Amino acid sequence: SRTQVFHIDKGKLGEIIEEAAAIIKEGGTVAFPTETVYGLGADALNPAAVEKIFEAKGRPADNPLIVHVASKEGVGDLAKHIPQKAYTLMDKFWPGPLTLILQSKEVVPDITTGGLDTVALRMPDNRIALELIRVSGRPLAAPSANLSGKPSPTTADHVVADLSGRIDAVIDAGAVNVGVESTVIDMSSEPPAILRPGMISKEDIEEEIGGIGIGYEDRVHQDIEKVRSPGMKYTHYSPNAVVLLIEGDSKPVNAKIREMFCDFKTRGARVGLLLTDRSDAPDCDAFFLLGSRDRPDEIALNLFSGLRSLDEQKVDVIIADGSFSQRGVGAAVRNRLRKAAEMIIKVE
Ligand code: TXA
Ligand code: MG
Repeated sequence: SRTQVFHIDKGKLGEIIEEAAAIIKEGGTVAFPTETVYGLGADALNPAAVEKIFEAKGRPADNPLIVHVASKEGVGDLAKHIPQKAYTLMDKFWPGPLTLILQSKEVVPDITTGGLDTVALRMPDNRIALELIRVSGRPLAAPSANLSGKPSPTTADHVVADLSGRIDAVIDAGAVNVGVESTVIDMSSEPPAILRPGMISKEDIEEEIGGIGIGYEDRVHQDIEKVRSPGMKYTHYSPNAVVLLIEGDSKPVNAKIREMFCDFKTRGARVGLLLTDRSDAPDCDAFFLLGSRDRPDEIALNLFSGLRSLDEQKVDVIIADGSFSQRGVGAAVRNRLRKAAEMIIKVE
């Protein structure tokens, strides 16, 4: 079946939203922009509609979806026993890239929550997303609109590349603003814990509600010799190429990138570089500039595009420069790169 593409700059916004909302109400799937990444939306309360999301993405059934709402008032319909701290965070950060895990009400079907008794809720900071929720009159279950295991989509073209023919429609409103997915915080536990880092940092949240925990594990550094032994496949956010992430200060990182680049070239591999400074680039097969290492916000915006772009250029190996600042969204960028990486090499 065909996937309809609505171009926001070519049609009337109101009419496009009406058409897209009609698809949602009929139980169909519509990919739409949010401030973080594009989401693949369906009526969160319609199990048959939500099933289509899992099918289109090839997503494992036990991985729950985020339910998107258009107002804080909508939260009480979907969640119960909402702690005061959750309201504090909604007041401060919504609409915005923060997802709250709360006790789920019965109306939310098992397929949406992956059978858990909690539900993930967020109000996106994007006019089109909010209008689509309002006009369809449904909360929208929406994971990132990529094939399961691929980098998240930051443009409608990424969505089309992965899901064309598998979903009913895409609303193309250009590139997103953040580039990495929302921060996920579990508010059903005390103290609350961050389950996925994003643009809203642990420090931002602690300023509002005090101490919180970390409920995710960042991978640790491994020995470089393991590059030669395959079999440590991490599939999250993974392009087809093997990703090697070099972490440390910029000087030793650059030296290591050059050394590894030459090493792979002598062995006949096609090498792509994901860099933070153009002047560092050796004469490589493919190259992508993430942005300045002092601007993690820039790097966040370009990260998934960069992984996709190097993949399209059919490189065997991607060497990624991990010398960027860890401030702000930098911690989330590092988390995504570590998930994409076959191997992380720390240099001093
Ligand atoms: O920025 C975002 O969050 C984007 C946009 C589209 O809103 N969405 C997104 O969805 O990244 P997805 O499905 O790719 O990631 C949702 C994450 C998954 O890691 C999932 O396991 C977790 O949230 N999650 C959802 N419901 C949960 C629950 N009840 N308990 C714990 N984790 C949950
Ligand atoms: Mg995802």
